[in-house]
Amino acid sequence: MYSIDKEWLNEVIEKIQKKMDWVSDKNHTKVPYTTDENGNYDDRSDESIDWTIDNGINFWTNGFWGGIQWLLYQNTGDEKYRIYAKECEKKLEKCFDMYYGLHHDVGFMYMPTAVANYRLTQDAEARKIAMHAANLLAGRFNPVGKFIRAWNLESKDTRGWAIIDCMFNLSLLYWASEETKDPRFKQIAMMHADTVIKNFVREDGSVNHIVEFNPETGEKVCSYGGQGYEDGSSWTRGQGWGLYGFMISYRHTGKKEYLDTAKRIAHYCIANIPESGFIPVDFRQPKTPAYEDSCGACVIAGGLLELAKEVPDVEKEVYIRPAVKILKAIAEHRSNWDTDCDAIVQNCSGSYHAEKHHITMNYADYYFIESILKLNGEGIFMW
Ligand code: GLY
Repeated sequence: MYSIDKEWLNEVIEKIQKKMDWVSDKNHTKVPYTTDENGNYDDRSDESIDWTIDNGINFWTNGFWGGIQWLLYQNTGDEKYRIYAKECEKKLEKCFDMYYGLHHDVGFMYMPTAVANYRLTQDAEARKIAMHAANLLAGRFNPVGKFIRAWNLESKDTRGWAIIDCMFNLSLLYWASEETKDPRFKQIAMMHADTVIKNFVREDGSVNHIVEFNPETGEKVCSYGGQGYEDGSSWTRGQGWGLYGFMISYRHTGKKEYLDTAKRIAHYCIANIPESGFIPVDFRQPKTPAYEDSCGACVIAGGLLELAKEVPDVEKEVYIRPAVKILKAIAEHRSNWDTDCDAIVQNCSGSYHAEKHHITMNYADYYFIESILKLNGEGIFMW
């Protein structure tokens, strides 16, 4: 039986608490995404920014800041985190008045904010916001192709595009069905998940990032490498979205095929984790430059820990050991515990072909904190 190094875990939790105490005080009026060259968080809460530019209040990662605050609230019991979480949630409400700019990522935005708030405090206003978001997401379903349409790009025709990341957004649909007892939301989520099994998951357990369908006939047209190295490669964060995403679908439906699919993706990931524990941007990228994505690392670790909860005791170690290896590599070598940077997790990459690599990203911190608390048996299941 695998036993976690409790001394190490407690030390990391203490470091998270110490850092996030001042980081949250310093930044609670913002909705941050990444840090600048001086280590200060930016602010994506501007409502006046054109939604097509994608860095205003509609930005898809804007829920993670609120999610971090809820995790800290639960972990410390400190009221200030509850207040900060609600500040973030309030700002995100504006997106509904604007309407344009809301996208398939409403699950990422409103699960760790409005739904978390509703689950923890039964806030009726938060429930209403989350229901709006769930209806928008359901409205993106293509009933012929049985997929949820990704993005609203102006520059490309994405009417037939679906992406692996969207497995996470399904949580909002499952929540809406559980809450209203209306099965339509869950039916849409399951149809999308089944389409992903058929069209995204490859023989070896790796997954595509983007698949294009004909939006009129539903037939599969092709796949794209998306944020990974190239078509047919395996963008690591996408492997994480798939692995953890199928665990979410399994948790809400009990459908065994979802658990088995999560296992297949997990086994592919485990077989490809480098000795160092540092996760590349793409498991099939060239050896140099050795771009890393610590964010993908944290998402994969979170998925492995969810999987470990659902398997018999004898199998748990298979998933917990690699998750701990990844998290130790982050905590010991890719974390900033000082006051010269607002973010904890370093060396994240938006995509393989991004202009800049090894930046900070708020959702890396979110999934890192979530995973560390999960290892300690804490934190609500946010998804
Ligand atoms: N969902 C987009 C990303 O992971 O960057």
